[in-house]
Amino acid sequence: MKELLKDLVEIPAPSGYENQVRNYIRQSIEPLVDEIRVDSMGNLLAVRRKNGAMRLMLVAHMDEIGLMVTHIDRQGFARFVSLGGVMPIHCVGGRVRFLNGVQGVIGVEKNPTSYEIPPLEKLFIDVGAANAEECPLRIGDVAVFERPFLDLGKRAVSKAMDDRVGVAVLIETLRRMEKSEFEIYFVFSVQEEVGVRGATVAAFGVEPDLGLAVDVTATGDTPKGHKMEVRLGAGPAVKIRDAGMLADPRIIHWMVQTAEKAKIPYQREILEFGGTDARAIQLSRSGVPAGVLSIPCRYVHAPSEMVDMEDVENAVKLLLRLLQTPPRLDSHS
Ligand code: CO
Ligand code: ZN
Repeated sequence: MKELLKDLVEIPAPSGYENQVRNYIRQSIEPLVDEIRVDSMGNLLAVRRKNGAMRLMLVAHMDEIGLMVTHIDRQGFARFVSLGGVMPIHCVGGRVRFLNGVQGVIGVEKNPTSYEIPPLEKLFIDVGAANAEECPLRIGDVAVFERPFLDLGKRAVSKAMDDRVGVAVLIETLRRMEKSEFEIYFVFSVQEEVGVRGATVAAFGVEPDLGLAVDVTATGDTPKGHKMEVRLGAGPAVKIRDAGMLADPRIIHWMVQTAEKAKIPYQREILEFGGTDARAIQLSRSGVPAGVLSIPCRYVHAPSEMVDMEDVENAVKLLLRLLQTPPRLDSHS
């Protein structure tokens, strides 16, 4: 699965510009599904039919955070805004690659009296141009961080684990599954990082009976880290809440029971910030029971996001078991 993950994370696909990764996913899964299509926003929807069964929407987002050029000055330096949650602390000295192949470095306005973290407005991209005429960029061009995949054995690092690791989990699940108790919509969504926009329309269109997002979550296992009971290597996490949702208690129960029966390690997750596509599913139409299977990830939204491959493997195992074990959704009692 590491090979699949490596392929996926190396493809540049900032929010709104997911074409390349969508093509890759489509090619990998087309023979495995009954139906596949791209909706008007660019979400990829692949269906495994099962007449009369509950309809489950599984979603992982294809996009990654990125940068968009807003202004080019006379010396050829480009100013930018973020596409999604890019933090200035991770930018200075970093390198970026535009979708048209242009590469550059991120510099910062000089302030020799301060080591404070500058806001994004103080940063610029330098593509090595001598002036504006030489600068090959245009307003609206988009870039991602330039940082190659790093294989650390049991652990792996990339600029785009969020959420290509979720994409990899869905593809691998599709490859390994034989039959399922659900009719399943595998949805690869666009524009999650700018506010779960793709999943919002996908959930409306699919009209699922229940939904699960597979996405990364933060951890509390680094020096003086944020107090959080999730760590790398202790299994995938069952989300209880984040800033965007309270996971449906019936879905939490279903996930926990299934993990315990199958003796698959899992963690209970409370994330005090952030959100996922599951929020869009939960609030779709007149409401849908939804939850999240989370992959613990250090340094989320930094250019070096780290996951543990055993957690990834266990996420696939748990998902495969969940597909054999429909939950009871008849009442809230
Ligand atoms: Co994210
Ligand atoms: Zn994500």
